[in-house]
Amino acid sequence: MSRITGRTKVCGIIGDPVEHSMSPAMQNAAFQELGLDYVYLPFRVGRDDLEKAIEGVRALGIVGLNVTIPHKVAVIPFLDKLDPLAEEIGAVNTIVNSGGSLAGYNTDATGFLQALIERGIEPEGKKVVVLGAGGASRGICFILAQNGARLTLLNRTLERAQELARRVAGETGREVKALALNEANVTEALRTADILVNTTSAGMSPRADETPVPAKLLKKDLAVFDIVYNPVQTRLLREAEAAGARTINGVDMLVWQGVEAFSLWTGRDAPVEIMKREAMRALRRED
Ligand code: ATR
Repeated sequence: MSRITGRTKVCGIIGDPVEHSMSPAMQNAAFQELGLDYVYLPFRVGRDDLEKAIEGVRALGIVGLNVTIPHKVAVIPFLDKLDPLAEEIGAVNTIVNSGGSLAGYNTDATGFLQALIERGIEPEGKKVVVLGAGGASRGICFILAQNGARLTLLNRTLERAQELARRVAGETGREVKALALNEANVTEALRTADILVNTTSAGMSPRADETPVPAKLLKKDLAVFDIVYNPVQTRLLREAEAAGARTINGVDMLVWQGVEAFSLWTGRDAPVEIMKREAMRALRRED
């Protein structure tokens, strides 16, 4: 790490837990690569200390913050401004401190979009099937709908899918279908789909032998995005690749949310390849 001076700007991440976060490795490598006098630190903050932690950000002049579980929604009342996208989604993962005024952004969503675009996939007019209706699905559904995708949302608990579909349709004015996540519905939805996104935890370690979609439904002209990053290549992605589909993994999304946050804090383009390398290294250390 480069030398810390009296002028070093401080960024960080608040969450609970934060011990396994890949962001410190990724962001510090990016600052160093560009020769920026910034440092990025992990701060474990419990629910009861969130408000005090945000006051501390102002008091200490911390210039940028990532926010992770369990604070992405709860932090909103303590901020001064919200980016319109973060407001629509109702969740913040990045804070920018401009002279004591704190603005909230959602780079999970914009990062997801960038990860798609990087692979030459534009959502406009595409039929996208999203599996899962939890916290991670929300931002993804909003950004996809906003960018002209035609969404079908499937979830194990149908009511959650219906609720999210209503919200996204209400905010974006786009039609969003909601269905229960079962084989008949997935088969029908995938018949005409261009993109499949898994936001469920099916296939995540320690249940790496699971997959939310039977392999026989995967096909060549489908792009498959699994936001699970542990393991990096989930069973879903392995089977998608075997079927000839294009695949995007959860590390890409993680890297791109960091890339977007880096630019918000520094005003500079992030060194994407360095950040990818560091994220992969940090993941391997965790294994
Ligand atoms: P996150 O913030 O990661 O989205 P979450 O809000 O707990 O976490 O949501 C987890 C998602 O994975 C939900 O859509 C959940 O379905 P339910 O709403 O029915 O609970 C889904 N999920 C978890 N395990 C699953 C499994 N084995 N098969 C299918 N869906 C699963």
